[in-house]
Amino acid sequence: MTTKFEILTQLKAHINDWISGEQLSEKLGVSRTAVSNHMRNLKAEGYDIMSATKKGYRLHYVPDILTPDELRSELDTKIFGCQEIFYFQEIGSTNLTAKEYALKGFSEGVLVIAECQTQGRGRRHRYWHSPPNSGIYLSMILRPSLPPNETSVITLMTAVALAEAILTEAEIMVRIKWPNDLLIGGKKLSGILTEINTFPDSVDFVIVGVGINVNTPPEIFSNEIKDIATSLFNETGRRMRRARLVAAFLSAFEKYYAIFQKRQFTTIINRWKSFSNIIGKVITVDILGRRYTGKVVAVDQDGTLVIEDHRDKRHRLISGDIIESNIN
Ligand code: BTN
Repeated sequence: MTTKFEILTQLKAHINDWISGEQLSEKLGVSRTAVSNHMRNLKAEGYDIMSATKKGYRLHYVPDILTPDELRSELDTKIFGCQEIFYFQEIGSTNLTAKEYALKGFSEGVLVIAECQTQGRGRRHRYWHSPPNSGIYLSMILRPSLPPNETSVITLMTAVALAEAILTEAEIMVRIKWPNDLLIGGKKLSGILTEINTFPDSVDFVIVGVGINVNTPPEIFSNEIKDIATSLFNETGRRMRRARLVAAFLSAFEKYYAIFQKRQFTTIINRWKSFSNIIGKVITVDILGRRYTGKVVAVDQDGTLVIEDHRDKRHRLISGDIIESNIN
Protein backbone atom coordinates (compact mmCIF):
# COMPACT_ATOMS: atom_id res chain seq x y z
CA MET A 1 0.00 0.00 0.00
CA THR A 2 1.40 3.38 -0.94
CA THR A 3 1.13 6.48 1.28
CA LYS A 4 -0.99 8.16 -1.38
CA PHE A 5 -3.44 5.25 -1.27
CA GLU A 6 -3.54 5.37 2.53
CA ILE A 7 -4.26 9.11 2.46
CA LEU A 8 -7.04 8.54 -0.06
CA THR A 9 -8.51 5.81 2.16
CA GLN A 10 -8.45 8.16 5.17
CA LEU A 11 -10.05 10.99 3.19
CA LYS A 12 -12.81 8.69 1.94
CA ALA A 13 -13.42 7.38 5.46
CA HIS A 14 -13.94 11.02 6.57
CA ILE A 15 -15.70 12.28 3.44
CA ASN A 16 -17.17 15.78 3.96
CA ASP A 17 -15.38 15.95 7.31
CA TRP A 18 -12.13 17.63 8.25
CA ILE A 19 -9.05 15.57 8.99
CA SER A 20 -5.92 17.37 10.11
CA GLY A 21 -2.52 17.11 8.44
CA GLU A 22 -1.06 16.32 11.87
CA GLN A 23 -3.46 13.40 12.40
CA LEU A 24 -2.63 12.04 8.97
CA SER A 25 1.11 12.38 9.35
CA GLU A 26 1.03 10.66 12.76
CA LYS A 27 -1.27 7.87 11.64
CA LEU A 28 0.71 7.12 8.49
CA GLY A 29 4.17 7.83 9.90
CA VAL A 30 5.10 10.41 7.25
CA SER A 31 5.99 14.11 7.37
CA ARG A 32 3.42 16.91 7.01
CA THR A 33 5.22 17.95 3.81
CA ALA A 34 4.73 14.45 2.39
CA VAL A 35 1.01 14.63 3.26
CA SER A 36 0.68 17.98 1.54
CA ASN A 37 2.53 16.73 -1.57
CA HIS A 38 0.20 13.72 -1.85
CA MET A 39 -2.81 16.03 -1.43
CA ARG A 40 -1.52 18.10 -4.34
CA ASN A 41 -1.22 14.97 -6.50
CA LEU A 42 -4.71 13.78 -5.58
CA LYS A 43 -6.13 17.22 -6.47
CA ALA A 44 -4.33 17.03 -9.82
CA GLU A 45 -6.14 13.72 -10.48
CA GLY A 46 -9.50 15.43 -9.94
CA TYR A 47 -10.25 14.84 -6.23
CA ASP A 48 -11.88 17.95 -4.81
CA ILE A 49 -10.04 18.42 -1.51
CA MET A 50 -10.42 21.60 0.54
CA SER A 51 -7.59 22.65 2.80
CA ALA A 52 -7.73 25.17 5.63
CA THR A 53 -5.24 26.15 8.30
CA LYS A 54 -6.03 24.67 11.72
CA LYS A 55 -8.66 22.36 10.17
CA GLY A 56 -6.68 20.29 7.72
CA TYR A 57 -8.19 18.57 4.68
CA ARG A 58 -11.71 17.73 3.60
CA LEU A 59 -12.70 15.56 0.62
CA HIS A 60 -15.79 16.79 -1.23
CA TYR A 61 -15.84 14.98 -4.51
CA VAL A 62 -14.40 11.77 -5.92
CA PRO A 63 -13.75 11.95 -9.67
CA ASP A 64 -14.81 9.29 -12.16
CA ILE A 65 -11.35 7.82 -12.79
CA LEU A 66 -9.99 4.28 -12.91
CA THR A 67 -6.54 4.78 -11.40
CA PRO A 68 -5.17 1.84 -9.38
CA ASP A 69 -5.52 3.86 -6.14
CA GLU A 70 -9.14 4.73 -6.86
CA LEU A 71 -9.96 1.13 -7.83
CA ARG A 72 -8.21 -0.34 -4.79
CA SER A 73 -10.08 2.03 -2.49
CA GLU A 74 -13.35 0.45 -3.74
CA LEU A 75 -12.34 -3.21 -4.00
CA ASP A 76 -13.31 -5.96 -1.58
CA THR A 77 -11.73 -8.86 -3.50
CA LYS A 78 -8.93 -11.23 -2.54
CA ILE A 79 -7.64 -12.19 -6.00
CA PHE A 80 -8.81 -9.93 -8.81
CA GLY A 81 -7.30 -6.45 -8.56
CA CYS A 82 -5.17 -7.48 -5.57
CA GLN A 83 -2.00 -7.97 -7.62
CA GLU A 84 -0.64 -5.48 -10.13
CA ILE A 85 -3.14 -3.14 -11.76
CA PHE A 86 -1.73 -1.81 -15.03
CA TYR A 87 -3.52 1.45 -15.82
CA PHE A 88 -3.28 3.31 -19.13
CA GLN A 89 -4.77 6.59 -20.35
CA GLU A 90 -4.68 5.10 -23.84
CA ILE A 91 -3.79 1.65 -25.10
CA GLY A 92 -4.27 -0.42 -28.26
CA SER A 93 -6.18 -3.27 -26.62
CA THR A 94 -6.22 -4.25 -22.94
CA ASN A 95 -6.64 -7.91 -24.00
CA LEU A 96 -3.48 -7.84 -26.10
CA THR A 97 -1.46 -6.20 -23.32
CA ALA A 98 -2.83 -8.59 -20.68
CA LYS A 99 -1.80 -11.47 -22.95
CA GLU A 100 1.75 -10.08 -23.14
CA TYR A 101 1.89 -9.86 -19.33
CA ALA A 102 0.51 -13.40 -18.97
CA LEU A 103 3.16 -14.71 -21.37
CA LYS A 104 5.79 -13.00 -19.18
CA GLY A 105 4.46 -14.99 -16.22
CA PHE A 106 2.26 -12.47 -14.37
CA SER A 107 -0.10 -14.18 -11.98
CA GLU A 108 -3.82 -14.70 -11.76
CA GLY A 109 -5.71 -11.59 -10.68
CA VAL A 110 -3.57 -9.06 -12.57
CA LEU A 111 -5.68 -6.36 -14.25
CA VAL A 112 -5.09 -4.21 -17.30
CA ILE A 113 -7.43 -1.26 -17.52
CA ALA A 114 -7.55 1.78 -19.80
CA GLU A 115 -9.45 5.04 -20.17
CA CYS A 116 -9.44 4.60 -23.96
CA GLN A 117 -8.55 1.91 -26.52
CA THR A 118 -7.40 2.66 -30.06
CA GLN A 119 -7.65 -0.96 -31.28
CA GLY A 120 -10.39 -2.38 -29.04
CA ARG A 121 -11.07 -5.95 -30.19
CA GLY A 122 -14.42 -7.70 -30.28
CA ARG A 123 -15.44 -11.27 -31.05
CA ARG A 124 -14.84 -12.51 -34.58
CA HIS A 125 -12.22 -9.85 -35.30
CA ARG A 126 -14.74 -7.04 -34.86
CA TYR A 127 -13.78 -3.62 -33.56
CA TRP A 128 -14.83 -2.49 -30.08
CA HIS A 129 -15.55 1.23 -30.00
CA SER A 130 -13.71 2.52 -26.90
CA PRO A 131 -14.10 6.32 -26.50
CA PRO A 132 -12.08 8.04 -23.73
CA ASN A 133 -13.06 8.45 -20.07
CA SER A 134 -16.57 7.10 -20.38
CA GLY A 135 -16.45 3.32 -20.70
CA ILE A 136 -14.78 0.43 -18.90
CA TYR A 137 -12.13 -1.44 -20.88
CA LEU A 138 -10.67 -4.08 -18.65
CA SER A 139 -8.82 -7.38 -19.02
CA MET A 140 -7.75 -9.82 -16.37
CA ILE A 141 -5.43 -12.79 -16.16
CA LEU A 142 -6.86 -16.12 -14.98
CA ARG A 143 -4.91 -19.33 -14.42
CA PRO A 144 -7.65 -21.86 -13.71
CA SER A 145 -6.71 -25.35 -12.60
CA LEU A 146 -9.28 -27.03 -14.85
CA PRO A 147 -8.84 -28.76 -18.22
CA PRO A 148 -9.17 -26.60 -21.38
CA ASN A 149 -12.53 -28.15 -22.40
CA GLU A 150 -14.16 -26.85 -19.21
CA THR A 151 -13.17 -23.21 -19.66
CA SER A 152 -16.09 -22.19 -21.90
CA VAL A 153 -18.13 -21.56 -18.74
CA ILE A 154 -15.80 -18.65 -17.90
CA THR A 155 -17.42 -16.43 -20.53
CA LEU A 156 -20.94 -17.23 -19.31
CA MET A 157 -19.86 -16.63 -15.74
CA THR A 158 -18.40 -13.25 -16.70
CA ALA A 159 -21.72 -12.25 -18.27
CA VAL A 160 -23.55 -13.25 -15.09
CA ALA A 161 -21.13 -11.28 -12.89
CA LEU A 162 -21.56 -8.23 -15.12
CA ALA A 163 -25.34 -8.50 -15.11
CA GLU A 164 -25.38 -8.73 -11.30
CA ALA A 165 -22.97 -5.81 -10.88
CA ILE A 166 -25.01 -3.61 -13.23
CA LEU A 167 -28.21 -4.52 -11.40
CA THR A 168 -26.65 -3.57 -8.05
CA GLU A 169 -24.83 -0.41 -9.09
CA ALA A 170 -27.03 1.03 -11.86
CA GLU A 171 -30.29 -0.57 -10.69
CA ILE A 172 -31.16 -1.70 -14.17
CA MET A 173 -31.84 -5.18 -15.50
CA VAL A 174 -29.83 -6.37 -18.47
CA ARG A 175 -30.56 -9.32 -20.71
CA ILE A 176 -27.78 -11.75 -21.64
CA LYS A 177 -27.84 -12.69 -25.32
CA TRP A 178 -26.19 -16.04 -25.98
CA PRO A 179 -23.36 -16.50 -25.67
CA ASN A 180 -22.17 -13.35 -23.96
CA ASP A 181 -23.61 -10.02 -25.06
CA LEU A 182 -25.31 -7.81 -22.51
CA LEU A 183 -28.28 -5.90 -23.86
CA ILE A 184 -30.77 -3.34 -22.65
CA GLY A 185 -33.89 -2.89 -24.77
CA GLY A 186 -32.27 -5.01 -27.49
CA LYS A 187 -29.21 -2.72 -27.73
CA LYS A 188 -25.70 -3.77 -26.82
CA LEU A 189 -24.31 -2.41 -23.57
CA SER A 190 -21.37 -4.68 -22.95
CA GLY A 191 -19.30 -7.40 -24.60
CA ILE A 192 -16.85 -10.04 -23.44
CA LEU A 193 -13.80 -11.37 -25.24
CA THR A 194 -12.23 -14.47 -23.72
CA GLU A 195 -8.90 -15.72 -25.06
CA ILE A 196 -7.18 -18.87 -23.93
CA ASN A 197 -3.62 -20.22 -24.08
CA THR A 198 -3.27 -23.90 -23.41
CA PHE A 199 -0.63 -26.55 -22.83
CA PRO A 200 -1.50 -29.98 -24.31
CA ASP A 201 -3.65 -31.03 -21.32
CA SER A 202 -3.96 -27.96 -19.17
CA VAL A 203 -4.60 -24.26 -19.27
CA ASP A 204 -1.67 -21.85 -19.25
CA PHE A 205 -3.84 -18.74 -18.92
CA VAL A 206 -7.15 -17.21 -19.89
CA ILE A 207 -7.61 -13.52 -20.62
CA VAL A 208 -11.09 -12.22 -19.88
CA GLY A 209 -11.72 -8.85 -21.52
CA VAL A 210 -14.77 -6.79 -20.72
CA GLY A 211 -16.05 -3.65 -22.41
CA ILE A 212 -18.96 -1.69 -20.91
CA ASN A 213 -20.53 1.51 -22.22
CA VAL A 214 -21.04 3.37 -18.96
CA ASN A 215 -21.17 7.17 -19.14
CA THR A 216 -20.97 7.23 -22.92
CA PRO A 217 -23.27 9.90 -24.39
CA PRO A 218 -25.21 8.35 -27.30
CA GLU A 219 -24.07 11.06 -29.72
CA ILE A 220 -20.49 9.81 -29.61
CA PHE A 221 -21.37 6.35 -30.91
CA SER A 222 -20.24 6.06 -34.51
CA ASN A 223 -22.84 5.86 -37.31
CA GLU A 224 -22.29 2.12 -37.69
CA ILE A 225 -23.27 1.33 -34.11
CA LYS A 226 -25.52 4.18 -33.00
CA ASP A 227 -28.72 2.17 -33.64
CA ILE A 228 -27.49 -1.03 -32.03
CA ALA A 229 -25.48 0.21 -29.02
CA THR A 230 -26.44 1.83 -25.77
CA SER A 231 -24.83 2.96 -22.50
CA LEU A 232 -25.89 2.99 -18.86
CA PHE A 233 -26.03 6.79 -19.01
CA ASN A 234 -28.33 6.57 -22.04
CA GLU A 235 -30.64 4.13 -20.27
CA THR A 236 -30.75 5.60 -16.76
CA GLY A 237 -30.03 9.29 -17.38
CA ARG A 238 -27.41 9.09 -14.62
CA ARG A 239 -23.64 9.13 -14.74
CA MET A 240 -21.92 6.75 -12.40
CA ARG A 241 -18.45 6.30 -10.95
CA ARG A 242 -16.95 3.58 -13.09
CA ALA A 243 -14.59 2.43 -10.31
CA ARG A 244 -17.61 1.38 -8.24
CA LEU A 245 -18.96 -0.68 -11.13
CA VAL A 246 -15.55 -2.32 -11.69
CA ALA A 247 -15.39 -3.18 -7.96
CA ALA A 248 -18.91 -4.66 -7.97
CA PHE A 249 -18.10 -6.68 -11.09
CA LEU A 250 -14.82 -8.06 -9.70
CA SER A 251 -16.52 -8.98 -6.45
CA ALA A 252 -19.29 -10.89 -8.29
CA PHE A 253 -16.73 -12.42 -10.65
CA GLU A 254 -14.63 -13.69 -7.76
CA LYS A 255 -17.71 -15.28 -6.18
CA TYR A 256 -18.54 -17.16 -9.41
CA TYR A 257 -14.89 -18.03 -10.03
CA ALA A 258 -14.81 -19.95 -6.73
CA ILE A 259 -17.97 -21.82 -7.84
CA PHE A 260 -16.36 -22.49 -11.24
CA GLN A 261 -13.14 -23.83 -9.67
CA LYS A 262 -15.30 -26.27 -7.68
CA ARG A 263 -16.85 -27.32 -11.01
CA GLN A 264 -20.36 -26.41 -9.89
CA PHE A 265 -21.26 -25.40 -13.45
CA THR A 266 -25.01 -25.94 -13.05
CA THR A 267 -25.20 -23.12 -10.49
CA ILE A 268 -23.60 -20.78 -13.04
CA ILE A 269 -25.74 -21.94 -15.98
CA ASN A 270 -28.95 -21.59 -13.96
CA ARG A 271 -28.05 -18.02 -13.03
CA TRP A 272 -27.11 -17.35 -16.66
CA LYS A 273 -30.53 -18.68 -17.78
CA SER A 274 -32.28 -16.33 -15.36
CA PHE A 275 -30.76 -13.37 -17.24
CA SER A 276 -31.20 -14.81 -20.73
CA ASN A 277 -34.84 -15.85 -21.24
CA ILE A 278 -33.80 -18.02 -24.17
CA ILE A 279 -35.32 -21.46 -23.43
CA GLY A 280 -38.32 -22.19 -25.66
CA LYS A 281 -37.61 -19.26 -28.00
CA VAL A 282 -37.26 -19.66 -31.77
CA ILE A 283 -33.96 -18.28 -33.00
CA THR A 284 -31.68 -18.20 -36.03
CA VAL A 285 -27.97 -18.56 -35.35
CA ASP A 286 -25.26 -17.67 -37.85
CA ILE A 287 -22.08 -19.72 -37.57
CA LEU A 288 -19.55 -18.39 -40.04
CA GLY A 289 -22.20 -17.98 -42.75
CA ARG A 290 -24.12 -21.17 -42.00
CA ARG A 291 -27.57 -20.61 -40.49
CA TYR A 292 -29.58 -22.72 -38.08
CA THR A 293 -33.18 -21.95 -37.13
CA GLY A 294 -35.01 -23.73 -34.35
CA LYS A 295 -36.45 -23.69 -30.89
CA VAL A 296 -33.99 -23.52 -27.98
CA VAL A 297 -34.49 -26.65 -25.91
CA ALA A 298 -31.47 -26.46 -23.60
CA VAL A 299 -28.29 -24.69 -22.63
CA ASP A 300 -25.80 -27.32 -21.55
CA GLN A 301 -23.39 -27.19 -18.62
CA ASP A 302 -20.64 -25.88 -20.90
CA GLY A 303 -22.83 -23.21 -22.50
CA THR A 304 -23.60 -25.19 -25.67
CA LEU A 305 -26.96 -24.14 -27.09
CA VAL A 306 -29.25 -26.98 -28.16
CA ILE A 307 -31.88 -26.06 -30.75
CA GLU A 308 -34.53 -28.24 -32.41
CA ASP A 309 -35.38 -27.45 -36.03
CA HIS A 310 -38.77 -27.92 -37.79
CA ARG A 311 -37.87 -31.55 -38.59
CA ASP A 312 -37.25 -32.18 -34.86
CA LYS A 313 -33.53 -32.51 -35.53
CA ARG A 314 -31.32 -31.26 -32.71
CA HIS A 315 -28.27 -29.08 -33.30
CA ARG A 316 -25.63 -28.38 -30.68
CA LEU A 317 -24.15 -24.94 -31.19
CA ILE A 318 -20.94 -24.03 -29.39
CA SER A 319 -20.62 -20.46 -30.65
CA GLY A 320 -22.20 -18.14 -33.19
CA ASP A 321 -24.35 -15.04 -33.50
CA ILE A 322 -28.08 -14.97 -32.89
CA ILE A 323 -29.33 -12.96 -35.86
CA GLU A 324 -33.08 -13.40 -35.41
CA SER A 325 -35.20 -14.24 -32.42
CA ASN A 326 -38.52 -13.67 -30.73
CA ILE A 327 -36.77 -12.89 -27.43
CA ASN A 328 -37.65 -9.57 -25.89
C1 BTN B 1 -17.68 -8.41 -28.28
O1 BTN B 1 -18.83 -8.26 -27.88
O2 BTN B 1 -17.44 -8.56 -29.48
C2 BTN B 1 -16.56 -8.42 -27.28
C3 BTN B 1 -16.06 -7.04 -26.96
C4 BTN B 1 -14.96 -7.04 -25.91
C5 BTN B 1 -14.35 -5.68 -25.72
C6 BTN B 1 -13.37 -5.64 -24.58
S1 BTN B 1 -12.89 -4.01 -24.16
C7 BTN B 1 -11.63 -4.62 -23.13
C8 BTN B 1 -11.01 -5.82 -23.83
N1 BTN B 1 -9.96 -5.39 -24.73
C9 BTN B 1 -10.27 -5.60 -25.99
O3 BTN B 1 -9.55 -5.30 -26.97
N2 BTN B 1 -11.48 -6.16 -26.09
C10 BTN B 1 -12.07 -6.40 -24.78
